[in-house]
Amino acid sequence: MAANYTSHPRPPLRELLTHLLEPWQFMALSLSYLPGTITPLLKSHSLRTLLSFQSLQPLWFARFWSYVGPQVRTASGPRVTPLLSGLVSGGTILTSSTDSTTPGIGGVILEIGPGSGMMVSLLSPPKDSKDQDQPASSAGHRSRITHIYGVEPNPSVHAALRSEIAAAGLQETYEIVPLGIQDALATGRIPEASVDCIVSILCLCSIPDPAENIAQIYRTLKPGGRWYVYEHVRAFREQGWGMNLYQAFVNLFWPHCIGGCNIRRDTLSHLKAAGPWSKFDLVQPPQEPWYFTLPHVYGILTK
Ligand SMILES: C[S@@+](CC[C@H](N)C(=O)[O-])C[C@H]1O[C@@H](n2cnc3c(N)ncnc32)[C@H](O)[C@@H]1O
Repeated sequence: MAANYTSHPRPPLRELLTHLLEPWQFMALSLSYLPGTITPLLKSHSLRTLLSFQSLQPLWFARFWSYVGPQVRTASGPRVTPLLSGLVSGGTILTSSTDSTTPGIGGVILEIGPGSGMMVSLLSPPKDSKDQDQPASSAGHRSRITHIYGVEPNPSVHAALRSEIAAAGLQETYEIVPLGIQDALATGRIPEASVDCIVSILCLCSIPDPAENIAQIYRTLKPGGRWYVYEHVRAFREQGWGMNLYQAFVNLFWPHCIGGCNIRRDTLSHLKAAGPWSKFDLVQPPQEPWYFTLPHVYGILTK
């Protein structure tokens, strides 16, 4: 469901232009990391990597994300932290755990596409939190994490991911699965009905065959398991045909510059269709105005 855009006043032209131009700035920033990716390959005569965009792109993305990832964490952290504690409903952050009906993360966790590990530190509850003492079913609280699968196919980000895991003190718990999620499932690395919680932060835009793979990922959840979602998605119908057309135009260039990310994914529908849910609480955050080129869906689904 889209935000209620009638509650957003007409934006000043400057704000409108800033938001519309943001994706181009992001792509220009990414392009500025391309020469620094290519130069060492030229020096080491790595022609094979240079001549294959499929090999070059993950290296380029890793360099770009090492700069931009921390900024994305700073911007997204205030949304991701309450999400992982079960403190989000109707796209809104709840101020008290007594308002929540959904537990936070705990047990066996599947983190899809952790990248350089920007969200890993947010998986452990804040140091002063008493969350780990709570029973697993306690709404608005986290329980003990027993295992984390971090399914990340880009080997160029694994070193950074490993150091984030160490910094979060999760070495004993966090297992990097160096595959695409589709291969991790196909090879049985993550068995069906074995996962308590799935965490997907800005990654379903990058996986192949999203409808099919999201349905496969659903099967890894235990009955009663939860999927914590913060993803950017295709523009909502309510944003108007102009925004949809504009987003489609941006998307002609975006995936080539941003590591294969597709901004036109109908992730909300794919998640809804993945299988039966006992609770489907996933909407656009109400603060997002109609002129966002990268609108999000935010919430928690319970199997
Ligand atoms: C935009 S990054 C987000 C990284 C991280 N979640 C964050 O918020 O900083 C998307 C990540 O998805 C990963 N990815 C791409 N294809 C994937 C696949 N098939 N399975 C799992 N992850 C994938 C990329 O390698 C990349 O690290």
